[in-house]
Amino acid sequence: MAGLTNVPFRRVAVACGSGYTTNEEIDADALIRGKPSAIDMARGDPALGVVAMQLLGNSAETLVPAARRLVEAGAHIIDINMGCPVLKVVRRGKGAALMRDVSATARILSALRRELDDVPLTIKIRGGWDDRETNAVEVATMAQDVGVDAITVHPRTRAQQFGGRAPWDLIGDVVAAVDIPVTGNGDVRSLADARRMMAETGCAAVMIGRGALGRPWVFDAAYGALGAGARAAYEVRIVEAHLDAIEQHFAPHDARLQMQKHLALYTVGWPAARAWRRELFALPSVDAVREAYQRLYAATMADAPVLAH
Ligand SMILES: Cc1cc2nc3c(=O)[nH]c(=O)nc-3n(C[C@H](O)[C@H](O)[C@H](O)COP(=O)(O)O)c2cc1C
Repeated sequence: MAGLTNVPFRRVAVACGSGYTTNEEIDADALIRGKPSAIDMARGDPALGVVAMQLLGNSAETLVPAARRLVEAGAHIIDINMGCPVLKVVRRGKGAALMRDVSATARILSALRRELDDVPLTIKIRGGWDDRETNAVEVATMAQDVGVDAITVHPRTRAQQFGGRAPWDLIGDVVAAVDIPVTGNGDVRSLADARRMMAETGCAAVMIGRGALGRPWVFDAAYGALGAGARAAYEVRIVEAHLDAIEQHFAPHDARLQMQKHLALYTVGWPAARAWRRELFALPSVDAVREAYQRLYAATMADAPVLAH
């Protein structure tokens, strides 16, 4: 997820049990131009195990050399984003716009397939553009035909953005239409949700997005069996490990921003956190942010040792 699922967050997700992670979308044009933020996102990390790197793009001319660079940087799987709904992305024919021109996209994916040889090539799609253009099955079938190895389906259309319920039955339609593995995505918040999605749709795997923000322990099957005290201790250990990883990975300014974003998510549901978040975003340094978190944590634990998650 753009702006969030960078190396430190994904290290934590893997430590909690995530099978594999994908980096934030990297714009192929920006990578080829040498934009520093794109190059930074393309950095590999051995602690992450199997790494998929995701590209945004609208042509083989940039996606092919960008994919080559990502493989050189340590990507084990190349994933093409065909679901991003953001206006400035789709206006340039990238993200979810790729689902609108199936034959042009088939040519791009074929070129990637030829270039990548035996490196797995995957795509992430939506249900389609809107309720008149819900063509996930057509796009998935085309992808299988050109040699894509696996597909993730977030079944909302581009018009639905992130609102309303994700129509899981569309994931089942894609599973029924292709033989390659399909990963289901959308509204999974717990292990029970994941099991239900697999049972209802027949998908081979489940991808968790927002349900992992502020709760990376969602990936840990053992977490649910812990008592309240053990859960709180586990959570604080994970948050501290995440803050340490942020501090190691980013320069001070970006580290502060990342800590602020993620701590705002970790503290959702804590009684005193709403007012605290205003203070959090005004803090000037990493040390001030860590101190403020420790103060809020101590006050929250003194009031009620079981945190709301
Ligand atoms: C802030 C934000 C950033 C996202 N960035 C990406 C992205 O870079 N690549 C991608 O494939 N999906 C991205 N997504 C979509 C999620 O991966 C996922 O498909 C969607 O949120 C539905 O699943 P969920 O209910 O588990 O969150 C993003 C979602 C959010 C909320």
